[in-house]
Amino acid sequence: MQGRVLAVDDNPQIVNLTVRLLNSFGYEARGMSDPREVPAMVRSFNPEVCILDIQMPFISGSELLDSIRSIDHFTEIILLTGTNDTLLAVSLMKKGAADYLLKPIEPKQMDVAVARALEHRRLIIENTAYKLNLERLVEERSQALSDALRNLNDLHSATLETLAAAIDLRDQGTSGHSRRVADMAIQVVKKMGMDDGELMQIEHGALLHDIGKLRIPDSILWKPSDLTHEEWEIMHKHPEYGYEFVQKIGFLKEAADIILSHHERFDGTGYPRGLKGDEISFGTRIFSLVDAIDAMIYDRPYHRATAFSIACEEIRKLSGTHFDPELVEPVLEALKDYEK
Ligand SMILES: [Fe+2]
Ligand SMILES: [Fe+2]
Repeated sequence: MQGRVLAVDDNPQIVNLTVRLLNSFGYEARGMSDPREVPAMVRSFNPEVCILDIQMPFISGSELLDSIRSIDHFTEIILLTGTNDTLLAVSLMKKGAADYLLKPIEPKQMDVAVARALEHRRLIIENTAYKLNLERLVEERSQALSDALRNLNDLHSATLETLAAAIDLRDQGTSGHSRRVADMAIQVVKKMGMDDGELMQIEHGALLHDIGKLRIPDSILWKPSDLTHEEWEIMHKHPEYGYEFVQKIGFLKEAADIILSHHERFDGTGYPRGLKGDEISFGTRIFSLVDAIDAMIYDRPYHRATAFSIACEEIRKLSGTHFDPELVEPVLEALKDYEK
């Protein structure tokens, strides 16, 4: 059988004729003359095409079309019309009917209309399945991509945390400093409304800011007495050493700037490049403040922790020299919950 077709007309003779014609063309056809029974028949027979008379008692052609479509959206509707029904037929075509046939039925025309409707239905179903499949495929690929990115991020984070812990371990007495300044810097820049990308760069820069100290000899890094002038010169190279370590690593390129510039001062008296004001990146100017605050409010081998309020006063004294005067108050405000 080429397809299931349901013919509906309130005139039983037209129904019989239509069903016979459809059978002769090879379709599996059923017919009915009471339109109220159509929904039940659509559910049980599941026709691919319905041929509907649009002027019937009890139920309008428009309602019938809606009710068939609500049972199976893919059912194709061909309208049977008299010559004076053409306006109604056009309005039903707009609602999704596939075609219309004028009464009296011309057999060949009906065969062509049914074949065309079946082909239309096949294409719609195929297209819908293709779209669904495409959507599923896009969803699967997007999920796989975001999983891969998340794994990569997790891997990056774990590597950076380990490195930061190693830096702190070697730089005696700064235990947890790198993670803490990273957290503080994030807290500050979040309040300043920076985007996630900038935030991540600042976090990475903060975590690794002293990575260059890994190249400073133990005899200098751990010297219990004051450093000589030559030793300070070597110590002051740690930002450049750190920069050399990370600048070739793609995802740390932006963070490298904080590593290179974290000892610059706003008035140009810092090192290694003696950058001034805006020449120092925004993230680095924020980081310098955070780094200094953390150094004061946590214990170090050579000094006891000071209260946050005292640290704030010390920072304010250096506003405009060490630190960007426009950032001092916003940063202190953003960190005010460190006040115990
Ligand atoms: Fe440093
Ligand atoms: Fe530091």
